[in-house]
Amino acid sequence: MSTIAMESLTKRYGGVTAVDDLTFRVTPGRITGFLGPNGAGKSTTMRILLGLAPPTSGRATIDRRVGGYSLGMRQRLALATALLGDPETLVLDEPATGLDPEGVHWLRGLLRRLAGEGRTVFVSSHLLAELAQTVDDLVVINRGRLVVHGPMVDLLDRADATSLEAFFLEATSTEATSTEATSTEATSTEATSVSEGGSS
Ligand SMILES: Nc1ncnc2c1ncn2[C@@H]1O[C@H](COP(=O)(O)OP(=O)(O)OP(=O)(O)O)[C@@H](O)[C@H]1O
Ligand SMILES: [Mg+2]
Repeated sequence: MSTIAMESLTKRYGGVTAVDDLTFRVTPGRITGFLGPNGAGKSTTMRILLGLAPPTSGRATIDRRVGGYSLGMRQRLALATALLGDPETLVLDEPATGLDPEGVHWLRGLLRRLAGEGRTVFVSSHLLAELAQTVDDLVVINRGRLVVHGPMVDLLDRADATSLEAFFLEATSTEATSTEATSTEATSTEATSVSEGGSS
């Protein structure tokens, strides 16, 4: 069973293609990191997933019960509030940003526990050293397009990368057009608010 799926998701803002034919799934019971350079389309993808913005074409589907929160509501209280609804799916946009080291440690343990309970945990972040300790699966996008998707360990192994940072920089470098993905499917989303994302 998969609770999040993107199918040829595309979003244009005027002449800007923010999300470009994105197809992937996010697996329940695992933590999936959503990575990409600034402007890659992560937040836009997550907003569409949560019904906060309409797609231009394609679609993003998700379980009805969703918990999520935004960059602007990153305190533990906000996440705790989102969890009150006992969501099956967590969609988190840069949740570690602004947390102190103890907070980051707490967040990591929380996400691990939630995934361990079989929930779908989909989280965007630029904090690669932290993600490397946290996630099971990676979805990397660049300029709106899928770059790689698969288990982090397999992807790093295959790329002979010494760190997630090295892998990310290589995968999103201008020379890199596409890195072989372990799957043609992946999923991603990002909640932009507790209230709006709480029952999407
Ligand atoms: N409401 C909007 N109107 C016009 N353009 C937008 C809008 N939202 C996003 N964009 C554009 O879509 C592209 C993707 O932006 P998005 O915020 O999804 O990227 P991101 O991966 O979340 O970046 P970051 O890592 O900086 O958070 C960018 O070019 C951005 O300027
Ligand atoms: Mg963003």
